[in-house]
Amino acid sequence: MEIIQNKSLKSLNTFGIDVSAKQYLELKDPSQLSAIPVNTYESYLVLGGGSNILFQDDYQGLVIHNKIKGISVEEHTDAHVIVKVGAGENWHDFVCWAIENNYGGIENLALIPGCVGASPVQNIGAYGVELKDVFHKLEGYNFESGSYFEKDNAGCAFGYRDSVFKNELKGKCCILNVYFKLSTQHEINTSYGAINAVLEEKGISSPGIKDIADAVIQIRSSKLPDPAKLGNGGSFFKNPIIPRSQLKNLQQEFPDIVFYDLDSESVKVPAGWLIDKAGWKGKKIGEAQCHEKQALVLVNLGSATGKEIYALSESICQSIYDIYGIQLEREVNVL
Ligand code: FAD
Ligand code: EPU
Repeated sequence: MEIIQNKSLKSLNTFGIDVSAKQYLELKDPSQLSAIPVNTYESYLVLGGGSNILFQDDYQGLVIHNKIKGISVEEHTDAHVIVKVGAGENWHDFVCWAIENNYGGIENLALIPGCVGASPVQNIGAYGVELKDVFHKLEGYNFESGSYFEKDNAGCAFGYRDSVFKNELKGKCCILNVYFKLSTQHEINTSYGAINAVLEEKGISSPGIKDIADAVIQIRSSKLPDPAKLGNGGSFFKNPIIPRSQLKNLQQEFPDIVFYDLDSESVKVPAGWLIDKAGWKGKKIGEAQCHEKQALVLVNLGSATGKEIYALSESICQSIYDIYGIQLEREVNVL
């Protein structure tokens, strides 16, 4: 087992922040983990594609870069397949593999950056689908107990951009394999407005799973910056959920406020709208900028530090609280 000292993480995080890890391990096989003596390192950080992490400083513990590969069909029924996927597989490559094999359920999640192992961590979601809708179970390793475990859907406590891995198990475990329940008889989901518009524009009236993925790719590419060209971590904040009574008050001052119905008590408000309306779009602190096309995305114009990006996020949070009385919560994992 080769532990590298002082490894640069600049190319391993999509913000492109120039930091390093005190110790670094490339994990290609789960058995490498049980060779790490329990409680040896100051802390553990499992890294996938680094597309949802903001480093403010060098990491003082052990970074475990998950490279566990493999995709295999474990079970086949009339309507479903159970597919086992190594945590280090690229998420979008897995979506493409599913579409090529005519397995449905994840086509709306096309082009999300990162690895399969991180997908349960924040219950990735986009265009009307969340990971929990196709999740079967996962296998992981707990650094504290030095033992392997399994978790089913209920055990992961999935919520909106949330799971047990962002709470009780934060920093304590490594997800090794994720099992998905994919369909062989598809339920096409075009509930997210823009998908229908794109399909109509292309003259597609009865779309298949590939048509959905293509539409999602087209929409995403038109508004989200490509991390290979402009460092970013996707949505920096979660969309806040507020009581209907608060929405009613806000509507008096902001009659055009955008919101989505959740239940009889609460609504979700797009943070991008709040930030945009507050005048932050395009604003900068040093080389950190609130993106010109999508105000929910903070970008690194070139040589921003993690601290600069965090400072920009703090100023935005304060301003959104002052204007609307809404406390934004960060989606990106800040270290
Ligand atoms: P990393 O950034 O490497 O890690 C994220 C967190 O998960 C860290 O806390 C890390 O320690 C932990 N982690 C990673 N792997 C493991 C593992 N194997 N075991 C235990 N913990 C682990 N997200 C969405 O939900 N929907 C979107 O539409 C979306 N769009 C995006 C668009 C862009 C342009 C970008 C840059 C990001 C977007 N994201 C989106 C966020 C990001 O892609 C997801 O959160 C993704 O799942 C992160 O994967 P990763 O491998 O890069 O995780
Ligand atoms: N909006 C603005 N100005 C902006 C940005 C957005 O007014 O600068 C408005 C839009 O006009 C629209 C609303 O806000 O009315 C929502 O915008 P959009 O459809 O772009 O989606 P979002 O709420 O910004 C969420 C997710 C994305 C996911 C998309 C599609 C969160 C935090 N973000 O973005 O996920 O891809 O919906 O489902 O839930 C991510 O998590 O990193 C991510 C990119």
